[in-house]
Amino acid sequence: MDDIRNIVILTGAGISAESGLATFRGPDGLWEGHRVEDVCTPEALARDAALVHRFYDERRAKLAEVGPNAAHEALAALDAQWPGELLIVTQNVDDLHERAGAKRLIHMHGELRSALCAGCGKARRWTDALPPGSVCDGCGRALLRPDIVFFGEMPYEMDVIDEALRRADLFVSVGTSGAVYPAAGFVQTARHVGARTLELNLVPSAGSFYFEESRMGPASMLVPELVSELLG
Ligand code: OAD
Repeated sequence: MDDIRNIVILTGAGISAESGLATFRGPDGLWEGHRVEDVCTPEALARDAALVHRFYDERRAKLAEVGPNAAHEALAALDAQWPGELLIVTQNVDDLHERAGAKRLIHMHGELRSALCAGCGKARRWTDALPPGSVCDGCGRALLRPDIVFFGEMPYEMDVIDEALRRADLFVSVGTSGAVYPAAGFVQTARHVGARTLELNLVPSAGSFYFEESRMGPASMLVPELVSELLG
């Protein structure tokens, strides 16, 4: 790993599984009989706002019971000590990376502890339940919704992520099934620019064959090992 300067790390629900947060597509991936794809859409919000708010209220409440694990902590240590460029891009809407101390971090799918005005687009920190019908105190007109990128919406900061990928020497994917684009396609951009590509997961992901190297095991073990290798 001596020749590596710029790193992009993509994380998914698997990195938070050992903290006690359910993944989306695991055996416990159904919620009240709904698939995640049926709850996380603008259409679902329009049809049944109470259902969508309840889904995210439960997840926001759960954050108070969990904390970062060894994988989040190792990435925060890497962030603090890595002298080159580093970007952690998480698909997770939990706040475990930042609670571990990570700074160079993008929440591409939004954040549970944030509420977004559907009218003026202003986001604000939100730690309690978000009752449907809550009106934005910024514009005073439109409704607040969970600050989550629903299926069919554009993830956050794609231009920054794309630039980082194009400069990357190493791309690492941790605990994501590779089922959701555009994140699932980052490995292809990284390969295109000649970056080394490494997947860390319990089992091979959907796009496993795109990666030069795959290491199988729990994130709490594999991520600290990788960080030790990188920091020498
Ligand atoms: P998934 O639930 O689709 O996949 C979780 C991945 O984590 C699987 O590949 C598991 O094998 C792996 N995994 C589970 N436990 C692990 C462990 N201890 N160590 C390492 N890997 C482990 O979650 P994501 O890929 O993150 O979008 O899902 C992508 C997006 O789909 C989410 O961001 C969410 C969802 O709809 C939005 O909310 C917008």
